[in-house]
Amino acid sequence: MALSSGLKYVSLGVLVLQTTLLVLTMRYSRTLKEDGPRYLASSAVVSAEVLKIFTCTLLVFSENNFSLRAMYELLNEEILNKPVELVKLAIPAGIYTLQNNLLYVALSNLDAATYQVTYQLKILTTALFSVSMLGKELGCYQWLSLLFLMAGITLVQWPVESLGDSEQNVMSAGSQFVGLMAVLMACVSSGFAGVYFEKILKEASQGLWLRNIQLGLFSFVFGFIGMMVYDGESVKQAGIFQGYNIITCIVVVLQALGGLIVAVVIKYADNILKGFATSLSIIVSTLISYFLLKDFNPTSVFFLGAVLVIAATFLYGYEQKPASSSTNKV
Ligand code: C5P
Repeated sequence: MALSSGLKYVSLGVLVLQTTLLVLTMRYSRTLKEDGPRYLASSAVVSAEVLKIFTCTLLVFSENNFSLRAMYELLNEEILNKPVELVKLAIPAGIYTLQNNLLYVALSNLDAATYQVTYQLKILTTALFSVSMLGKELGCYQWLSLLFLMAGITLVQWPVESLGDSEQNVMSAGSQFVGLMAVLMACVSSGFAGVYFEKILKEASQGLWLRNIQLGLFSFVFGFIGMMVYDGESVKQAGIFQGYNIITCIVVVLQALGGLIVAVVIKYADNILKGFATSLSIIVSTLISYFLLKDFNPTSVFFLGAVLVIAATFLYGYEQKPASSSTNKV
């Protein structure tokens, strides 16, 4: 009990750190000016899946006291002999693969802070899917906070559309739209896939890492197909790892790590608390984007919107604690 509560907060803290680092390095890696070709985002998604499968396999191996025989029997029993359980994971895997690719589209077109705040709409989609798929109930503070959230996100987007003076802003009007659409689609996919995965984890007794291997296997296949369809020509010409550099490797490692942390958070906390962690990381990445990357000039409207988004996130959790701990409120 104490261990799982500890894991809950540690995993949330690590998620704040990982989300911040991932957003900033991914943004940096997509905007870095280089001589050669830039790395393929679709290839980075596949590499992260391979790394996740490898790490989860090692974790399952260590859970089985590094016994090859036990490992073989487990994989045989749980993965090969339970095709229905396996296929259930194909749905979130397909959706997450799409989402992971959308993330790169978004960060190639939006600055890190705008992306982060807009992506908070996934709290709304997660809540709606939690209500409809898990039967969770929302209190009035929580519905109110969702309204705040939408108002905040609208404000954050406002100046982006009205600014048109600098060369960069004129150039990026279309790209802002593409980035925004990518984030909105990722919000729907994140909400659905997260709740679906939570449902699967809490319904069946299979271990977390085993579930993640199953998820990763599908994600790898889907990601690979996506890469060949979308970037097949460049892969044939310059290979899967074209344009990789140290920053790309860091992005891949951070993305793989993120998947593992998200899985732990969904198991020990839940999808809504996961939203809290990303809200906190907004504050951190806004500050870093402003002070270090200098790719973002926050206006007072942006600040108001960001404050509303963050306040909404905390308001969302407000009703949760005073209520009896045995109720299953979101
Ligand atoms: O933004 P969001 O929290 O929905 O991001 C979830 C991320 O975690 C995705 O990159 C997804 O591939 C990953 N994930 C994972 N394993 C899980 C659940 C999510 O790798 N069990």
